[in-house]
Amino acid sequence: MSAISHEVGRRRTFAIISHPDAGKTTLTEKLLLFGGAIQEAGRVRARGEQRRARSDWMKVERERGISVTASVMTFEFDGHVINLLDTPGHADFSEDTFRTLTAVDSAVMVLDAAKGIETQTLKLFEVCRLRNVPIITFINKMDRDGLDPFTLMDQIADQLALEVTPLNWPVGMGGEFQGCYDLLKPRLSCMERTRPEQVPPEGLPLSGVDDAQLDGLLSPRFLNPLREEVEMAHGLCPTFDLESYREGHLTPVFFGSAMYDFGVRELLRALLDLAPAPRPQQAEQRLVKPDEEKVSGFVFKIQANMDPNHRDRIAFFRLVSGQFRRGMKLKHAVTGKILSVHNPLLFMARERDLAEEAWAGDVIGIPNHGVLRIGDTLTEGESLKFTGVPSFAPEILRRVRPEDPMRVKHLENALRQLGEEGVARAFKTHLGSQWIVGVLGALQFEVLAERIRGEYDVPVRFEDAGYITARWLESDDHRLLKKFVDACQAEMAEDYDGAPVFLARNTWRLNDAIKEWSGVRFQKVREGTA
Ligand code: G4P
Repeated sequence: MSAISHEVGRRRTFAIISHPDAGKTTLTEKLLLFGGAIQEAGRVRARGEQRRARSDWMKVERERGISVTASVMTFEFDGHVINLLDTPGHADFSEDTFRTLTAVDSAVMVLDAAKGIETQTLKLFEVCRLRNVPIITFINKMDRDGLDPFTLMDQIADQLALEVTPLNWPVGMGGEFQGCYDLLKPRLSCMERTRPEQVPPEGLPLSGVDDAQLDGLLSPRFLNPLREEVEMAHGLCPTFDLESYREGHLTPVFFGSAMYDFGVRELLRALLDLAPAPRPQQAEQRLVKPDEEKVSGFVFKIQANMDPNHRDRIAFFRLVSGQFRRGMKLKHAVTGKILSVHNPLLFMARERDLAEEAWAGDVIGIPNHGVLRIGDTLTEGESLKFTGVPSFAPEILRRVRPEDPMRVKHLENALRQLGEEGVARAFKTHLGSQWIVGVLGALQFEVLAERIRGEYDVPVRFEDAGYITARWLESDDHRLLKKFVDACQAEMAEDYDGAPVFLARNTWRLNDAIKEWSGVRFQKVREGTA
């Protein structure tokens, strides 16, 4: 096997998706713990504040206790390189999450056993389905009273239209929770009731659920229902089929408790054994395979000011193919310029390390001063453009003003940089040169105001601007487009690239314009950032 096939084959790049509070942060930490990437065990609850600090870089995130921006954590485990991409759980940040999901090969979906599928789970799942991202389900908080395991599996099957195969089975639930029985490699992992914080041992291998050793491990009160339920599960659920999972038709399910470490080891194992290695990626020109010699990849995220001491901007670059070496020269597909990548970063849990080399499937951070934008392709020379990293038209628009009118230039600078991160869209109106900021969720305004004040020292106010949505305008007929722009000056703005944007005051006006100007396209989604 060539070095590249070997390196690609041992990589797993995935994200965890969940509704807020289902336990994504706890599970992330436990995966890092089992994977040996961090050392502190079993203190998740007591050290909530510090726990958040680990994957949340930014002050605002810590203050609000939510994870706003996606981060990357890379660690090695059992001969594999694992790249865990963190996705924000809050509904308001779905665009960032959407783009992160363009950079993974599989996902873990965390459900709260008491709540089952929630609104945000559903949204994120749909994004995964759109891209055929295979999903492993982790049903968390079995140590609390929740829904019956069969009800939970039915919910997944019905609401997500997926086949469901349990790979382990819970013994008891809530106050009665005893542990989990592994259905793939039969063994019982039991909770020590007097010391629940103890990481559970893996348990002895068994011949199956009828193994007599189980009689010595569980009282009949738990063992009898376990035997019945396992038999039922075998009868009702399809046997696990690797192809079907990888094609996105079937989800293997683990029951567990991230807090008490149940199911986590099995989940990590499944990620190594079942989850796919880096997959081929579609470019406009052709399908690019991960084990091709030459480097190619795309930027799926930009983050400014990660380190407040250095005003750097980091482009998160997912390698689609090849072996990357530090100092390599890569071609920036949009401009044709050559970029020497001297200081690429590898994100090892919280620390940042210089990446001497990286392979297809890895994510490296490329520091730059605004050259790289979301959606950009870099290659070793070939003209390629990877598709499918979109920008969405904002759904809420407000006018932004600095409290101190003298600081308008600083505000423009802040808006440009934050716009490049894809956090918000900023449009300058043709009339009056006002700045209109658009986002997908209202909470983003608070985060923006905080960041503009904290990072650029410009206190700002957001005010109602009277617009309900924005559309990028395109037309094959340039004269027609110009005619439209001239006719609708009062509703026109432009984005940072100078692309014309129509700001709609209400749905009726938007529909009317679309009807009247049939040669003009009103785009809701745009490739890359604006
Ligand atoms: P999120 O990232 O998906 O938003 O969830 P997070 O891990 O922050 O967990 C949300 C809450 O659920 C936390 O409680 C966490 O301790 C708890 N939790 C996570 N996994 C389990 C589990 O397996 N069992 C039980 N019983 N609870 C779990 P919190 O009170 O909000 O925070 P903290 O004070 O515990 O840090």
